[in-house]
Amino acid sequence: MSADPGFALYLHWPFCKSKCPYCDFNSHVREQIDEARWRSALISELDRAAATLRGRRVASVFFGGGTPSLMAPVTVGALLDRAAGHWAFAPEAEITLEANPTSVEAARFADFRAAGVNRVSLGVQALDDAALRFLGRHHDVAQARAAVGVAARHFARYSFDLIYARPGQTPLSWRDELAAALAMAGDHLSVYQLTIEPGTAFFTAHARGDFALPDDEGQAALYETTQELLEGAGLTAYEISNHARRGGECRHNLVYWRYGDYLGIGPGAHGRLTLDGQKHALRNRRAPETWLAAIEGGAAACEEDLVLAPDERRAELLMMGLRLAEGVSRARFCAETGRDIEASLEPARLAQLIEGAFLVLDEKGLRATAAGRQRLNAVLAALLD
Ligand SMILES: C[S@@+](CC[C@H](N)C(=O)[O-])C[C@H]1O[C@@H](n2cnc3c(N)ncnc32)[C@H](O)[C@@H]1O
Ligand code: SF4
Repeated sequence: MSADPGFALYLHWPFCKSKCPYCDFNSHVREQIDEARWRSALISELDRAAATLRGRRVASVFFGGGTPSLMAPVTVGALLDRAAGHWAFAPEAEITLEANPTSVEAARFADFRAAGVNRVSLGVQALDDAALRFLGRHHDVAQARAAVGVAARHFARYSFDLIYARPGQTPLSWRDELAAALAMAGDHLSVYQLTIEPGTAFFTAHARGDFALPDDEGQAALYETTQELLEGAGLTAYEISNHARRGGECRHNLVYWRYGDYLGIGPGAHGRLTLDGQKHALRNRRAPETWLAAIEGGAAACEEDLVLAPDERRAELLMMGLRLAEGVSRARFCAETGRDIEASLEPARLAQLIEGAFLVLDEKGLRATAAGRQRLNAVLAALLD
């Protein structure tokens, strides 16, 4: 891995057809969206940001959400054209769009491709109709399969998301679902363990006892099944929840995990930008209408711009980098913190985590073992607190 993780651009489309009961992303349901107005506001924010970020080379663009596949392809094309007017793009730049696997959205894939998108990431979530209903999704397994088929025809690179550790799920049924997923997978799969996020409909329902999740042992068995099947099919876990064939890794997320610079555009978008040697943590106004009013009133979309202290910067670098199987290279650690790993981290804490087989430190750098990645929060707390 080179010391420079590249520069990425994230664009947030905050709207969805309906709110899924598990989701705490910045996503909202609105009766009417004036898309032309949103398009010009996103372009304004891009223009404003570009003025302070000259000379960057874009390694990746990611349209995330919400549901960006509800955007008109002309909006996606206009944003990409504008970005290309501001910055040079790497020849192999990855341009991803998140899509929901409904037939309406799949019908737009050809136009997204023509607009410049070269990778899609589909929210399949489950390959079981009852589970899809439980998750509040609007597609069924047949629609998901069809959408993945359309994606495969239009995009050389595509991925889809699955959510596991659902109520009542057993390793046996999960095995069948994963086998079905593998039969239609490309070079990348994201497999997330269901988490109950505060403020979601699931949080209330779960607290009320409407459903129970698998216990720790059950979750561990489902995790093991995931690793065994995907690894066996050549889709290695290069990150806690992300699996890819060699070269199929999501370049955009690699920029985040390698703690590179990224610009976030749109409501609630975050950014990390190195300016004059200092790392800035930026956060945009979250509510869509507040963000829009700020942009249209000529104000900044950003409501927080913090310069990270050296300790915070080191903590973020480790928090992101140890999610990756490759870990944090010596070159990256030194470039970001100005110190060597051994000089920066407390020797006794480091030794204890290495002894416990949660971390490995060698000539390449510092990385978490599979066991360490499974309990990364505890490992980070033991290393840094
Ligand atoms: C921004 S979201 C969804 C993108 C797109 N709107 C969709 O739903 O297909 C990205 C992914 O995060 C995962 N996710 C969101 N909330 C989750 C939760 N509470 N537990 C596990 N995975 C979650 C889902 O797999 C989802 O596809
Ligand atoms: S999971 Fe996707 S479609 Fe569902 S509310 Fe969240 S962002 Fe929207």
